[in-house]
Amino acid sequence: MNNENILVTGGAGFIGSELVRQLVKLSHVNVINFDKLTYAGNLENLKSIENLENYTFVKGDICDEKQLAQVFIDHDITKVIHLAAESHVDRSITDPLLFVRTNLIGTASLLNAAKIYWKGDYANKLFFHVSTDEVYGSLEMGSELFTEKTSYDPRSPYSASKAGSDHLVRSFYHTYQFPVVISNCSNNYGPFQFPEKLVPLCINNILNNKPLPIYGKGENVRDWLYVGDHADAILTILKDGQIGETYNIGGHNEWSNLDLVKVICSTMDDKLNRPKGESEKLITFVKDRAGHDLRYAIDSSKIQNELGWTPKFQFGEGIKKTIDWYLSETEWLENVSSGDYKTYYENQYG
Ligand code: NAD
Ligand code: DAU
Repeated sequence: MNNENILVTGGAGFIGSELVRQLVKLSHVNVINFDKLTYAGNLENLKSIENLENYTFVKGDICDEKQLAQVFIDHDITKVIHLAAESHVDRSITDPLLFVRTNLIGTASLLNAAKIYWKGDYANKLFFHVSTDEVYGSLEMGSELFTEKTSYDPRSPYSASKAGSDHLVRSFYHTYQFPVVISNCSNNYGPFQFPEKLVPLCINNILNNKPLPIYGKGENVRDWLYVGDHADAILTILKDGQIGETYNIGGHNEWSNLDLVKVICSTMDDKLNRPKGESEKLITFVKDRAGHDLRYAIDSSKIQNELGWTPKFQFGEGIKKTIDWYLSETEWLENVSSGDYKTYYENQYG
C-alpha cells in the first residue's frame, strides 16, 4: 500500500494523543502531529512513541497560514485528521473569542491550506473533522437520542464554535467537492485527560482530599465513551467512511453527573483502601454552569451498521482502567496540575 502522510492536529491533547498512539501502529502511515502546545497539549502524552520513525512532531498554530502551508509542503500531506481545538465549555464561557479564533478561524485556515496544497486533485485525499455531540444542543430527559439528522442547536460559545467549524467543513464539500468526513462524538474519559474535566478532576481531588464540585443538583446527563474506543472509531471511519458523510460516535452509556461521581468515589475508596463512603463526603454542590445543557445522548447506529464499529470497553472496565492509570501516573498528574511539563518541553520547542 502507498504511504500516507497524515497530519493530525491537536495530537498532543487528550484524544489526539490516544489517536496518534494508535495511528503510528499502522505501518503504511507517517504521522505528523501539528500542535500549538496550549495548556492542554502535553508531549509527555507521546513519550512512548516519540522516537518512532513514522512519527514527527511540529509545533504550530492552526490559525497561522504560513506555518500550515509549510507543514503541507515539508511532509507532502495526503490526509488531515483535525482535532486541535479549545475544548473546555467552562473556559468558553469566560473567554469566548479564544474559541472563535481557534475553532472557527483555525478550522477555516486548515481547510484553506489543504485546498491550496491539494490543488483540486482529491484522489486519495481526506479532510477528517473531529467534532462533538454538543453541536446538537440539549435533550430533555427521556429516550430521545441525537442522530446525524438532528438539527444543530449549539448553546455555549464552545459548542457554537464547533458547530460553525462543522458548517465550514460541509461548505467546502458542497462548494469545492472537497473530500471531507465529520464525526460527532459524546463525552470521552480515559488516561491523559487534563484534570479540568469532570472525571480526572474528581480523581485528582479525591487523591488530594479536596471538594468534588458538582454543578447545580448533579442531574445533568452525559453519554460516556472510553477514549480508546473513540480513537478506534476514528480509524474505522478513516478506513471505510464515505466522503461527505457524518458519523455519530457514542457509548449508549448515560450517567447523571452525581451518579457518575459516586461510581468514581466508590472505586477510589476500594483502590485506596479507604472506608466505604469516605470519598463521597467530598461531594460539594456548587453554582450551576451558565446555560448548562441538560442531557446529551448519541444514536451511533449508523457507524455500527454501516462500518461495523462497536465500543470495546464496558463502562465498569473503562473507569477502573482509567482510575488505575491516574493512580500509577501521579507524576503526570502533579506535573499537569503544577504546569511543570511546560517548562520541560518549552526548553525543547520554544
Ligand atoms: P484537548 O483540549 O485535550 O486537546 C486539544 C489540543 O489542541 C491540545 O493539544 C492543544 O495544544 C491543541 N491546540 C489548541 N489550539 C491549537 C491551535 N491553535 N493550533 C494547534 N493546536 C492547538 O481536547 P480533546 O478533549 O482531546 O478534544 C480533541 C477534539 O475532540 C476537539 O476538537 C474536541 O472538540 C473534540 N471532542 C472532544 C470530546 C471530549 O470528550 N473531550 C468529545 C467529542 C469531541
Ligand atoms: O459531549 C462532548 C463534550 O464533552 C466535548 O465536546 C467537550 O470537549 C468535553 O469537554 C465534554 O464537555 P462537558 O462540558 O460535558 O464535559 P465536562 O467534563 O466539563 O463536564 C461534564 C459534566 O459535569 C457537565 O454536565 C458539567 C459537569 N461538571 C463539570 C465540572 C468540570 C460538574 O458538575 N463539575 C465540574 O467541576
